[in-house]
Amino acid sequence: MLNIGIFPASGGLGSSTYTHLLNHVPNDKVTLIARFPEKIPGTYVQNGARVRKASYESDPQELEAAFADIEVLFLISYPSHVRDYRVKRDELGEATAKLIERYAADPAAFEFVNAKVLLTGNKPWTLAETVRCLGEALGKEVRIREVSVEEYARQTQVEGRFGSAAVAESWATAWEAIRAGETAVVTRTLAEILGRTPEDFDQTIKQLLSQQRD
Ligand SMILES: NC(=O)c1ccc[n+]([C@@H]2O[C@H](COP(=O)([O-])OP(=O)(O)OC[C@H]3O[C@@H](n4cnc5c(N)ncnc54)[C@H](OP(=O)(O)O)[C@@H]3O)[C@@H](O)[C@H]2O)c1
Repeated sequence: MLNIGIFPASGGLGSSTYTHLLNHVPNDKVTLIARFPEKIPGTYVQNGARVRKASYESDPQELEAAFADIEVLFLISYPSHVRDYRVKRDELGEATAKLIERYAADPAAFEFVNAKVLLTGNKPWTLAETVRCLGEALGKEVRIREVSVEEYARQTQVEGRFGSAAVAESWATAWEAIRAGETAVVTRTLAEILGRTPEDFDQTIKQLLSQQRD
């Protein structure tokens, strides 16, 4: 099996991926790279996973040291306003772990070399359906109201989430992409990799809420 690296090995997707992966591959084949290695639970290190320190801003020498002897690298992009297809994040991590495991075990048999793998939910969700689903889960009426980008970005909670109105305005372009149908895409790939139908978005929302209430 090839040596596998995951960077950054923290955050939602990175943690989910290595948690699934370490259940299936020899742990000493896995290197977890993060800017705060202390965030990685000690149990994984005790089981043999290697931990190294690096950030996106590391200089080339530091990155070379962090990635030394790694033959398969799962490089996660910085969170940005990219397309989002309503996939449960833990299922993305599980599917990613399966892809890494398959490639690391037998690169010649891997069918996705130099190919894009698009993992989506089971059906497109309109904003109206999304809001209805959130309202049902909360047990109260939730409404959606269209506002200008400037009005959206000036809201205290939006500015608080993004840190500045300028960043919030940049994120607001995602709504135009949604309007243009860029997120209304469904593929069977996630189901095929997982070997089961992915969890529906409304189910995920209900579970998230019940976990928060517990
Ligand atoms: N298409 C989809 O449906 C979908 C779903 C989920 C995620 N994603 C994409 O996957 C990516 C990760 O998302 P996420 O949900 O895992 O985000 P997240 O939970 O916010 O995690 C962000 C990660 O980035 C790391 N990070 C931030 N700045 C860094 C830096 N300067 N150097 C090194 N590491 C840095 C964080 O590390 P620290 O712990 O050190 O802060 C953390 O591990 C994003 O691009 C997101 O858009 C896509």
